[in-house]
Amino acid sequence: MPRPPPPPPSPAKAADVEQDLHALNEQREAARECRECPLGFHAIQTVWGEGPLRAALMLVGEQPGDQEDRQGRPFVGPAGQLLDRALGELGWPRDALYLTNAVKHFKFEMRGKRRMHKTPAQREAAACLHWLESEIAHVKPQAAIALGATAARQLMGYPVPVMAQRGHWLEREDGLRVLVTLHPSALLRVFDEDRAEAYALWLADLRKASKLIAR
Ligand code: SF4
Ligand code: URA
Repeated sequence: MPRPPPPPPSPAKAADVEQDLHALNEQREAARECRECPLGFHAIQTVWGEGPLRAALMLVGEQPGDQEDRQGRPFVGPAGQLLDRALGELGWPRDALYLTNAVKHFKFEMRGKRRMHKTPAQREAAACLHWLESEIAHVKPQAAIALGATAARQLMGYPVPVMAQRGHWLEREDGLRVLVTLHPSALLRVFDEDRAEAYALWLADLRKASKLIAR
């Protein structure tokens, strides 16, 4: 049976969303020019988050990769393709989620002509934290998923042992619940014979947030 359409939001709620949309757009514009840490001087562009306000779930990665830096969108390279595959299997529409990163500029090191990913330093992540917090404040997700250690630390404010905490919900002081799991890039580094199992475990972690996604 088709579901009845949701009731229209109250005028007060609609005004809240309007205000948050405006504020978030202003933040995105301001972040284009950010040079608050050295990463902003080397990457092509700031990669801001993508997705609707009030998305039930915010997925937080580490930082844009080579493709994301070129295209200006999060999760469009190899890790993003693996994430898309998982979202498909979970039945989570990508456009119902807010996808973003702990750090908004690509950090890399040249190897020949290739730009190889480098993990951001803690001081760089710390400099970038306010952008993520403003996304959380305006999107107002019901929960977040930390994809990997950089995201988990950025969201929680302390180092989280990802392998011990994966599949567990943590809670921030502001009440936001955070599900911890691996970053999709970690799965791309697993050897072939173990990859199917690693992927299945990762899906099982993610599935713990499935209740939040209306179908
Ligand atoms: Fe600013 Fe973050 Fe880019 Fe550093 S990585 S310049 S803090 S947007
Ligand atoms: N890895 C991330 O953490 N984020 C992206 O956007 C792409 C790859």
